[in-house]
Parts: sequence; structure tokens; C-alpha cells
Amino acid sequence: MLSSPLITVAIDGPSASGKSTVARGAARALGFHYVDSGSLYRGLTWKCLRESVNTEDPVAVAELVNRTKLDFFVEEGAIRFTLDGEDPGAQIRSMLVQERVSDVAAVPDVRARVVQHLRDTTRFGNLVMEGRDIGTVVFPDTPHKFYLDADPEERARRRHQEFVKSAADTTVDKVLASLQRRDRKDSTRKTAPLQIALGARIIDSTAMQAKDVVEIVVSQVRDAISKG
Ligand code: DC
Repeated sequence: MLSSPLITVAIDGPSASGKSTVARGAARALGFHYVDSGSLYRGLTWKCLRESVNTEDPVAVAELVNRTKLDFFVEEGAIRFTLDGEDPGAQIRSMLVQERVSDVAAVPDVRARVVQHLRDTTRFGNLVMEGRDIGTVVFPDTPHKFYLDADPEERARRRHQEFVKSAADTTVDKVLASLQRRDRKDSTRKTAPLQIALGARIIDSTAMQAKDVVEIVVSQVRDAISKG
């Protein structure tokens, strides 16, 4: 029996551009698994902090990442993971992890390991994966590439609302400054900086509702699949 080719949908873009909501929604509509690649960089940052590894020391960070065992599993349609058997859960969203994750994500050895793990998740089946380098590095050959963007002020407002929900004490201005710092680091690092992948459809979601962006992604992928 012939098996159908594996489908990977790449959704890249800067912080708080709506990638998670859109990737999750598109995965649900298409019946694919959802992968949040940033959660791996965040999880490894959490592990560094817990083991008092200086995140500004790339050698120490690479050493920790190389000795950490990652195991993957599916939960409610999303690919999740444990680090040495532990699920960091919501701790990967803390302000401290948020401040340090760009350092960890800039280490070439870390990126090489994470990219390998991300490619391996195709063993679970068709995927919608969100991140910064999915269409450029992780799955450069996929025909299904999207780049989401939104004005920095709108992105800061969205991220601030998430922090307010989790009772974090911050302001939109502080969130905007932190987002811009992170965007700068993510876009200027030497290895796999945030870039628009060749052939990616660019969607500016500043004035759009998430469900409308999901609709664009899902219909384009369905169209492409039906044309074979
Ligand atoms: O999407 P996020 O905010 O959870 O990402 C956390 C950090 O990880 C962010 O600083 C960018 C980095 N990242 C990356 O370099 N490559 C990816 N594919 C995903 C995230």
C-alpha cells in the first residue's frame, strides 16, 4: 500500500505575532499535530536556570543541553516533551525564562540538537510547527510556509494581556521593550536568525482576528494538498 507523503506546515514570525493561536487552530482544523518549537528553547533555558548554569556561557549551556534527555509525547493534539523525565509545564512561560531564552537559542550546538529533535517529531505524523526558523532551517523543503507579523505595539498589547491573566506585574511599555530586545537578538544572531523563508506567505495580523488568519492558512494548505 502506498503511504501519503508527510505534510509539514511551517509558521514563523517574531514574538507575540499570533503564531501559537494560529498554529494551534490550523493544526486542529487540519487534523495535524501542533508543535511549539520555542517551548524546547524555553524548556532548556528553564533547565539551565534550575541547575544554576549561566545562560551567557555558551559552553556551559551546550554541555547541559548535551547531557539532558528529551522524550516526546502527544497530549491533546500537541507534541509535548519531558527533560530528564520532568515536565516543566507553565514554568517555561515565566519572566525569567523569557529574559534568558534568546541567549540559549543563540548557541549553535543547542540549535543543532533542537533542530534534530524537531525533525524527529515527524514520526508522529503530519505537523503544524511554529517558530523562527521552521521554513528556513527545520523544514526548508516544505511548500507550506507562512510568516506572521504584526506591529510591535499590537504584539506588546497581546503579550501583556497574557501576563495579566497569569497575574504577572508588568506594563505594556515594559513588555514592548522586552519584546524588542528579544526580536533584536533573534534577528541578529549568527545561527539561523529570524528571516522570512523563501516562498513564505506573509500575513500581517495587526488588524485581523486569529480565526481569519487560521482560515487563510487552512485554505491555502488544503488547496495545495488537493492539487497534489
Ligand atoms: O516563540 P517563543 O517566544 O516561545 O520563543 C522563545 C525563544 O526561542 C525566542 O527568543 C526565539 C527562540 N526560538 C528560536 O530561536 N527558534 C525557534 N524555532 C523557536 C524559538
